[in-house]
Amino acid sequence: MAAGLVERFRAARRDPTLAVLEGFHALKHALRFGAELLEVACADPERLAALAASLAPELVERLRALPAVTPVLFRQLSPTPPREPVIAIARRAVWDAGAALAAAGPAPIVFLDNPRNPGNMGAVVRVAAAAGAAGVLTTGEHDPWTPAALRGAAGLHYALPVVQVSGLPAGDRPLVALHPEGVPLEAGSIPARAVLAFGSERSGLSPGMLERADLRLSIPMRAGVSSLSLATAVAVALYRA
Ligand SMILES: C[S@@+](CC[C@H](N)C(=O)[O-])C[C@H]1O[C@@H](n2cnc3c(N)ncnc32)[C@H](O)[C@@H]1O
Repeated sequence: MAAGLVERFRAARRDPTLAVLEGFHALKHALRFGAELLEVACADPERLAALAASLAPELVERLRALPAVTPVLFRQLSPTPPREPVIAIARRAVWDAGAALAAAGPAPIVFLDNPRNPGNMGAVVRVAAAAGAAGVLTTGEHDPWTPAALRGAAGLHYALPVVQVSGLPAGDRPLVALHPEGVPLEAGSIPARAVLAFGSERSGLSPGMLERADLRLSIPMRAGVSSLSLATAVAVALYRA
């Protein structure tokens, strides 16, 4: 049974249809936004019940009386076991990039050009969900649904489309490149329904994306500061939009 549980969590990390939700906040948001849970392991059901009662009363019933696993077994379920004593496997949401881009309404899409760090991707998903963006699309080799990204997003991948794509398809949305050398961002600079494109942590936006953009905007910074972190730049642009 214990060996089976460890193996199921290991297998889930490699399965592109599944999500591993580490910690209470990831589990809470995933459930709030409709995740289908397949397995939950809890090392301290009383503490989990107390967390649910104070932070998500609507989930108290759902998280009641889960079978407890020992702390030793719990620590084998993740290379970085969460502080809150719960970890779960859920089905990933099936999102469609084309449908996200075609969505009506003024909400922008966030496009990450080859992001490298799962924690940054998660932080971007979290702020995009909070600001009401229409989706987060990412290119490059890094899966935006890894457990580390889900943890950084506090499980908010279920709240808006989060999709890895091979490139940005042509479409009717204005393409706005956020780039430290663009024209200064002001109120009203970002058109409705924009795709807001952000570069990778180390090398910034690719020349191809900069070339393709309809507009390049910079977030003003004090002299001597080279750039903001990726998630901070996304947050500023989204709340400006
Ligand atoms: C950590 S920065 C990359 C820094 C990189 N060395 C560069 O030259 O662009 C990650 C991304 O955040 C966005 N960004 C960071 N600071 C910005 C600023 N002041 N104005 C506009 N975008 C910014 C850009 O899209 C950038 O590619």
